[in-house]
Amino acid sequence: MNPSLNKPIKNIACIGAGYVGGPTMAVIAQKCPKIKVTVVDINPQRIADWNDEDLDKLPIYEPGLKEVVTEARGRNLFFSTDVDAAIKEAQMIFISVNTPTKTYGKGKGMAADLKYVELCARQIAEVATDDKIVVEKSTLPVRTAQAIRSILDNVGNGVKYQILSNPEFLAEGTAIHDLHNADRVLIGGDHHTPEGQAAMDALADIYAQWLPEKRILQTNVWSSELSKLTANAFLAQRVSSINAISALCEKTGADVEEVARAIGSDSRIGPKFLKASVGFGGSCFQKDILNLVYICRSQGLSEVADYWEQVIIMNDYQKRRFAENIISTLYNTVSGKKIAFLGWAFKKDTNDTRETAAMYVASTLMEDKAEIHVYDPKVTEEQIISDLEYLSSLNYHNLRDKQIRTQIHIHTAPYTALENAHAIAVLTEWDEFKSYDWRRIYNAMLKPAFVFDGRNILNAKELKSIGFKIYQIGK
Ligand code: UDX
Ligand code: UDX
Repeated sequence: MNPSLNKPIKNIACIGAGYVGGPTMAVIAQKCPKIKVTVVDINPQRIADWNDEDLDKLPIYEPGLKEVVTEARGRNLFFSTDVDAAIKEAQMIFISVNTPTKTYGKGKGMAADLKYVELCARQIAEVATDDKIVVEKSTLPVRTAQAIRSILDNVGNGVKYQILSNPEFLAEGTAIHDLHNADRVLIGGDHHTPEGQAAMDALADIYAQWLPEKRILQTNVWSSELSKLTANAFLAQRVSSINAISALCEKTGADVEEVARAIGSDSRIGPKFLKASVGFGGSCFQKDILNLVYICRSQGLSEVADYWEQVIIMNDYQKRRFAENIISTLYNTVSGKKIAFLGWAFKKDTNDTRETAAMYVASTLMEDKAEIHVYDPKVTEEQIISDLEYLSSLNYHNLRDKQIRTQIHIHTAPYTALENAHAIAVLTEWDEFKSYDWRRIYNAMLKPAFVFDGRNILNAKELKSIGFKIYQIGK
């Protein structure tokens, strides 16, 4: 066996200081004080934000993250733009760059764009002077490790690599809790060679610093890569399944929450991920399913591809259905009307807006000439505008940039967003929305005072007694 692969890990590098790389490395550094962890990124502003003395400036918002960063940063956790130096020094390198859906060429709109992963592999191959364990942390199509290996082996200068897959299962908003208490950690590698097994064990040892060994699962690389896509596809499928039933509930007088409770108490089904909503968002579900669908089609499995694609079709339907219900309830037009959005993030407790249902709902209403007033406790104005411009770039709507800027208004406090509104739409389930003074809001709104609760978080009975006309999902 190559002796260098058997040495304990002293230095870790992670390329990509995003929603996954940042919190994951912060927790590894917190729990493994003897390992120096360096997180690098090509975006200097991101690194400057991670290094900011003011912890409110950290580039991502996650409950508990500040505390972990305070404990480890400067001790054994470092953020830097010097990618080459971090690669050289590390025995283990995580690749945690983004893998968006391709927006061009072959596989456009479906396949994962691996250009950043490939760039990382090339950079590692060019810079490395001793043996490395390369860990895929980004979610990747099954068999990507083969492409990484081919680059590393062909560009490289005699250095030996072990490639592991170690997909991340954390959910945003609960990332630190999920990392501290992971249900399982998955490590895919090559069991059949001593070097492969040693690399898997080295990574397992890191997680074993804080997790019970029985939760650390080892598989072959392809199973590990595919498990990540499958886990996200199953979770998204549950949301689409309950959302499909929510449409039927609205037609039949059944209540989707009662149905969810009834089926969720069957231990074979379980209660989680059965919350009907305006539609799932986030950086993973849609991208990973599209990717799965693309892989199935490329393998000639069209029935399997169609099956999974339906999860996305149902989600698009749910977002459109919510927006169209607002328009039809407001007497078939929202032209010139003030629609107040509570929430923009794709879920509570995060400032992440990737694929958020809010931007799709806003686009549909803005095409019908609505004036949208948004209040979200964590999302910035620039982000909201850039989300709508992103949908322009996909031709999702035909609003011009100037129109976007005149029809969307961002508020830093809730009540100004809500006053004189024709309707309120709840797009994110932030806890604070529940405790607002709804009587004061009612008094300041135009009548009839419509509320469209896309997250079923408001107390419908109480709001009705105040005088609101409230619409909830699946009720
Ligand atoms: C992650 C995963 O890695 C992705 O595969 C998963 O499906 C979604 O979550 P995430 O951490 O959320 O991505 O992405 P993002 O917050 O965009 O962070 C990626 C970072 O990588 C960015 O800060 C970007 O600047 C950096 N990057 C990208 C590099 O440092 N080098 C590159 O070549 C490309
Ligand atoms: C997901 C996976 O849960 C995580 O394991 C993986 O690593 C990354 O993708 P994330 O996207 O951060 O995590 O959040 P998640 O809690 O899964 O929610 C995704 C979307 O589904 C959100 O928009 C959420 O509001 C929605 N959702 C979730 C529902 O509408 N109903 C539910 O019952 C659960």
